[in-house]
Amino acid sequence: MNTKDIAPTLEKIYAEAGDFLPLNGTDYVEFYVGNAKQAAHYYKTAFGFQSYAYKGLETGSRDYASYVVIQDKIKIVLTTPLNSKSPINEHLTKHGDGVKVVALWVDDATKSYEETVKRGAKPFMAPTKEEDENGYVVRSGIYTYGETVHMFVERKNYNGTFLPGYVEWKSDYNPTSTGLKYIDHMVGNVGWNEMNVWVDWYSKVMGFINLLTFDDKQIHTEYSALMSKVMANGNGRIKFPINEPAEGKKKSQIEEYIEFYEGSGVQHIAVATDDVLGTVRALRSRGVEFLSAPPKAYYDDVKARIPGVKEDIDTLAKEGILIDCDEEGYLLQIFTKPIEDRPTLFFEIIQREGAKGFGAGNFKALFESIEREQALRGTL
Ligand code: FE2
Repeated sequence: MNTKDIAPTLEKIYAEAGDFLPLNGTDYVEFYVGNAKQAAHYYKTAFGFQSYAYKGLETGSRDYASYVVIQDKIKIVLTTPLNSKSPINEHLTKHGDGVKVVALWVDDATKSYEETVKRGAKPFMAPTKEEDENGYVVRSGIYTYGETVHMFVERKNYNGTFLPGYVEWKSDYNPTSTGLKYIDHMVGNVGWNEMNVWVDWYSKVMGFINLLTFDDKQIHTEYSALMSKVMANGNGRIKFPINEPAEGKKKSQIEEYIEFYEGSGVQHIAVATDDVLGTVRALRSRGVEFLSAPPKAYYDDVKARIPGVKEDIDTLAKEGILIDCDEEGYLLQIFTKPIEDRPTLFFEIIQREGAKGFGAGNFKALFESIEREQALRGTL
């Protein structure tokens, strides 16, 4: 079933049931990192983010420091502990640098918490009002897969910088944007036989719908396989595909992730651009590394299979950009190598020209490319 088929069903379901968890969009993504100051420099230099907000010793935060960087609608928070007693240390020791919080922008953080906890969510933070001279924010949080958390952020009564407790972070070093606009989707990797557990959780606890399903017959290479289901909220602004490993001849990239992250967690963050070629060239020139391009046969097939691509296919091939289509249009996408030493988190850059899918037509080429990297790491 494709997205077009399911759209009227979605509308009908929400018209009948009412959306108990209306989400306005992604608010921020918070990473726990070993050195937030240096991580912030990396996101500014390599990805073109701008300095936005800060909290740390100078602002009275004694246990941890957080740097917030921003690019268009994307806000990334980089948090590091300031002493050995902070519980953040345990997270870092176990998982390495990684995504701790996927924060969702809501109109009512108290109701969001009550509705989800009532439906079985494990609480992370009860609704908490944070206040300063610019107004107040209410935040609450629940656990999702692994030790990952969804925070609900109600900011309609706040007009300060980011959140109470933060100060504006002004910097003389402001690299130009690379054209990243908003988070298109975020993918979670979960362990064996856990995909349906979390699909059911997003459905029951958050009211999400299973938009698309890919089984291991669709997603496999000669060596490895995985399964994936895409969960989406009522207005479609939030999309969380969930992956699980499947049996193959060799170790799949999902198993590799689970082994090195030591549990379930966020596998990749897909960010949208209007100009993937310009964005990828800018990122490459700043040192971001991408997975290698698929072979020429892939592009020959694209030329035959996907009509109406505005961009020159040979130019896309030169940059290693993948192309897929559905009934509504096409999409261009490319994946970075893992952005840290553990082969865990990576980014996807995506340009949508009508297509609503996730590049299923590219899964094989993508996974073969990842397997080439796994072979180098000795983890295939
Ligand atoms: Fe993706």
